[in-house]
Amino acid sequence: MTTPGSVLSVEKVPKLGGFVKLFIDSADPKQVRDAVATGVVDGVTTNPKLLARSDRAPADLVPELCALVRGPVSVPVRARASDSIVEEGLALARLHERVVVKVPVHADGLRAIARLRGEGVRTHATLCCSPNQALLAAKCGAYFVSPFVGRSEDLGGSGLELVAQIIEILDNYEFETQVMVASVRNPVHVQESALLGADACTMPWSVLQALAHHPLTDRLDEEQRRAWSQG
Ligand code: E4P
Repeated sequence: MTTPGSVLSVEKVPKLGGFVKLFIDSADPKQVRDAVATGVVDGVTTNPKLLARSDRAPADLVPELCALVRGPVSVPVRARASDSIVEEGLALARLHERVVVKVPVHADGLRAIARLRGEGVRTHATLCCSPNQALLAAKCGAYFVSPFVGRSEDLGGSGLELVAQIIEILDNYEFETQVMVASVRNPVHVQESALLGADACTMPWSVLQALAHHPLTDRLDEEQRRAWSQG
């Protein structure tokens, strides 16, 4: 139904969650601010390597990252044993209401994901390298699960096939867990993830910037600018 004079029809307005969400994988507030300014960023993911590069403690840095973006901010736990993951996860969740606690999909992590779910804490099941791990994470109630595409390819596997299988399994049983493709190395990973129907994709700033580039666009733009100046 299109209202006369309006550009958008009601049907064309995307439903919440009905489009691929793009996340910036960064713990650098300046980079996050620049990424959010593009207008296409839905949230932030961090990881131990990114946090280690910052000279600030998560308790200080995480609220600042949350203030820069409207969506979820994933923050990893350091703990390895289930009880300590739960304790640390609860503390991280108290830092800000939009924190999602990032937990590896090993056996202790999965137990902690189920317990955190019971406490009302959203979790991001990370380091997922097999469809079965994703299935378990979904059964434990993870909010996001992240197949590691680039890392799987490093070992000769097909990262995108992993994504496709996980999406199919979670769809088969209508799990609410969202598939956030991670370890993204290039724009093709993003494009293929969107074609497969992934809920979200997290990527470094360099990949996010590369999404908008095409050499033909640059050439045509140059051609048009020349036409203006000659006209
Ligand atoms: C996602 O949440 C991860 O931080 C990220 O994608 C890690 O991938 P990498 O270790 O291959 O860079």
